[in-house]
Amino acid sequence: MNIQWYPGHMTKARRMMQEDIKLIDIVAELVDARVPLSSKNPDIDDLAKGKSRLILLNKADLADPARTKAWENYFKKQGFYVLALDARVGKSVKAVTGIIQEACREKIERDRRRGIINRPVRAMVAGIPNVGKSTFINTYAGKACTKTGNKPGVTKGKQWIRLNKNVELLDTPGILWPKFEDPSVGLKLAMIGSINDDILDLRDVAWNLVGILLENYPGILKNRYNIEENGDKMDVIQQIAQVRNCRQKGNTLDTDKASKLILDDFRSARLGAITLDIPPKDQ
Ligand code: G4P
Repeated sequence: MNIQWYPGHMTKARRMMQEDIKLIDIVAELVDARVPLSSKNPDIDDLAKGKSRLILLNKADLADPARTKAWENYFKKQGFYVLALDARVGKSVKAVTGIIQEACREKIERDRRRGIINRPVRAMVAGIPNVGKSTFINTYAGKACTKTGNKPGVTKGKQWIRLNKNVELLDTPGILWPKFEDPSVGLKLAMIGSINDDILDLRDVAWNLVGILLENYPGILKNRYNIEENGDKMDVIQQIAQVRNCRQKGNTLDTDKASKLILDDFRSARLGAITLDIPPKDQ
């Protein structure tokens, strides 16, 4: 998937979210649990002002559980409701309904005092591309999910997915754009595979990934590839090329191939459950 954000796209996405947000009580924001900060766009704080907020640390199955816990605490301290999950799994997603109701308790109470009983809480999903928004909506809504028709003549209004008598979910997610100003954000999104590999220098991405792994997860590369972790990133990549027999014509080492291999192993969690963003220490 190609993340090419043009000002026109961003303006349109922002305008759509602004419109949709008027209709809802709570924003469920998906981030990737391996990069909770790099996959989060802080502009949403402004867009979702006055709404209840839930952060879903998705793809938790691929992330380091200790760091996921630390990120949960970090976001909770900032006043968010938080849940770590695997959006592909029904059991994992089920807990969201209870949290949405808890997060909207005040609104439900207010309604009750005004004599409005059983008005469902309305939620929307938001996040940058590839964090799992569609997967989440499909799993959460289950088979009941109805899509808005795209054919001419079919009214293209907002579709609400009724999850139970208490919660309704907007069927189209709000799309946020990554915050690319900090170069490490683009690199980390490239590492997790959220940016089209065709437009990347995979050697550069793998070189930076190896740096993070050597520093934060010592022993992981050594164990997987049976190499020496000597602290020299290029040497580590060359050793991996050697061990895995990545060769070009003329029998020279093919570090491009080795870079791709390292990235593939990381993205599929064959290197283990790893989180690249480090939660700030307890303030
Ligand atoms: P988006 O709407 O936010 O753009 O994301 P989407 O749901 O399309 O999900 C992007 C990719 O992430 C998909 O994989 C999806 O299966 C995967 N995914 C979503 N949630 C989780 C999760 O909790 N854990 C894991 N491990 N993966 C998750 P894909 O390779 O693009 O497609 P496919 O191979 O699943 O068809």
